[in-house]
Amino acid sequence: MIRTKISDALKSEQLGERLLLKGWVRTRRGNKNVSFIALNDGSCIQSIQIVADIEHFGEEFLKPITTGAAIAVEGILVASQGKGQTVEIQADTIEIYGTADPDTYPLQKKGHTLEFLREIAHLRPRTNTFGAIFRIRHNMAIAIHTFFHERGFYYFHTPVITSSDCEGAGQMFQVTTLNLYDLKKDEYGVIDYERDFFGAQTALTVSGQLEGELGAMALGAIYTFGPTFRAENSNTPRHLAEFWMIEPEVAFIEIDENMQLAQDFVRYCVRWALEKCTDDVNFLCEMYDKELIDRLKFVVDNDFVRLTYTQGIEILKRAIEQGKKFDFPVDWGTDLQSEHERYLVEEHFKKPVILTDYPKEIKSFYMKQNDDGKTVRAMDVLFPKIGEIIGGSQREEDYEKLKRRAEEMNIPQKDIWWYMQTRQFGTAPHAGFGLGFERLLLFVTGMNNIRDVIPFPRTPKNATF
Ligand code: 4AD
Ligand code: MG
Repeated sequence: MIRTKISDALKSEQLGERLLLKGWVRTRRGNKNVSFIALNDGSCIQSIQIVADIEHFGEEFLKPITTGAAIAVEGILVASQGKGQTVEIQADTIEIYGTADPDTYPLQKKGHTLEFLREIAHLRPRTNTFGAIFRIRHNMAIAIHTFFHERGFYYFHTPVITSSDCEGAGQMFQVTTLNLYDLKKDEYGVIDYERDFFGAQTALTVSGQLEGELGAMALGAIYTFGPTFRAENSNTPRHLAEFWMIEPEVAFIEIDENMQLAQDFVRYCVRWALEKCTDDVNFLCEMYDKELIDRLKFVVDNDFVRLTYTQGIEILKRAIEQGKKFDFPVDWGTDLQSEHERYLVEEHFKKPVILTDYPKEIKSFYMKQNDDGKTVRAMDVLFPKIGEIIGGSQREEDYEKLKRRAEEMNIPQKDIWWYMQTRQFGTAPHAGFGLGFERLLLFVTGMNNIRDVIPFPRTPKNATF
C-alpha cells in the first residue's frame, strides 16, 4: 500500500477509504476503551487523529506509542465525532518503527521556550512552531526563484571561497589547509600563502556581488542565492555568522529602477507567504504575534517611502529636539542604528522606507559616486520590526572614479583587477541589491530572533549541530 501524506488525508473527502499513514506521535490520550493518537508527518501544521481500539490492539501493545515515537498506521478514513477535526483514522494495524522514551525524550507536550528549543536544534523541527517556520522558509525560497525566473533573471552561482573582500569590512573567515600548529613565516613574520591550497589567502565570501556583476554584464540580469559568512562579533537578534543572501544584479538600470525592483520583489514574497502558507502563518500569528498578518498585508498594500539619508537625519534630529531618546547619537556621516531605522519606519512614516544617497565613508567602494563628492547612490530598505532588510546601490561604472575610490579605501588592485576590467571593457550603468534571507523570514514569521528562522544557526561561540 502506498503511503498517504497527512496533508492529503485531511483534505480527502473519500470517507470509508483505506489509507496508510506514517509519522511521529505528538500525543496519545484516551480512556479504558480507546486511544487517540495525534500523528504528524511534517506535511502540514495539523496532526491527524488516529483512533485505536484498546480491545483490538491490547493495552500492552499501545504503551510504547508515546510522544515522539515513529509509527505507521493503516485504517479507514471516517468522519470525526470530536471537536477540532472533520476526519480521523479508525486504525486496524499499527507498526512501531521507533519509540521515544518519555523519561529522556526532551520534547514533551508542555510548551517549551524558544531559548530551550535552540539548545535542542536537532529535535526542534518536530515542534509545530518550527515545522511552520521551516515550511515557510522553503516556500520563500521557491517564491524567490519564481519571481526572478518569471522576470528573465538567471540564477548565477558565485563562489563560496574567495580571495576578495567584497564589502571591505574585514569580517571574513579564513580558509586554509596550512598546518596551524606549524605555521611557517618569513623573516618579517609574514605567512607565505603561496604555499597554501589556493596559492593565495582565501576566505568564505561575505557577498557574491562582485562576481554577480560579472554575470549581469553578460547575461543582462542575474541573481545569486547562497550562503554568505560574516565574522562580525555582533551577538544580536538580527545577525548570523552564516546567513543566506539573495543578490540580484541588473545591467542598464539605475537607482530608481533598482528601488522599484526591491519593492516589487519583497512584496511578491510577502504576498506568497499570505496566499500559500496560510495555515502556518495563521498558526504563528495566533501563537506568537497577533499583529503578524496585519503587518504582512500592510506591506503588500503600501508603497515604500523614498527619501535620502540626509532627509532621514533631519527627521531624526527633529525627533530628538522634540524629546525622543535614542541610545546612539544621530549625526550626519555616521551609520544609522537599528533604533533609528525603526523610528523612521514604525513611528514617523509608519511604512517601509527606502533611504538613499548615504555618505560615501560609511559605504563600500563600488557604489556610484554622486556629483556632490560626499554621497554615493546607495539604497537601504528599512522594515518594521527588522530595520535594514535590503542593502544595495547603483554601481560606479566609471573606471577612473572606481579606481580612485578603491585606492582611497586601501583595496589592492591586484585583488580586484578582474572586477576592474568590467569598467574597462564595455562598461555600462548597472545596479543591484542584497536581501538577507533570514531577515525576510523574521518579517514573514513574526519571530523576534534570527536564530529561530534558520535550522542550525551559526553565531559567535556556537556551531553545534
Ligand atoms: O548591506 P549588505 O552588507 O550588502 C551587501 O553585502 C551587498 N554586497 C549587497 C548587494 O548590493 N548585492 O548586506 C545585505 C543584506 C542586509 O541588508 C541584511 O538583510 C543582510 O544582508 N545581512 C545579514 N543578515 C543576517 N546576518 C548578518 N550578519 C547580516 N549582514 C547582512
Ligand atoms: Mg547594509
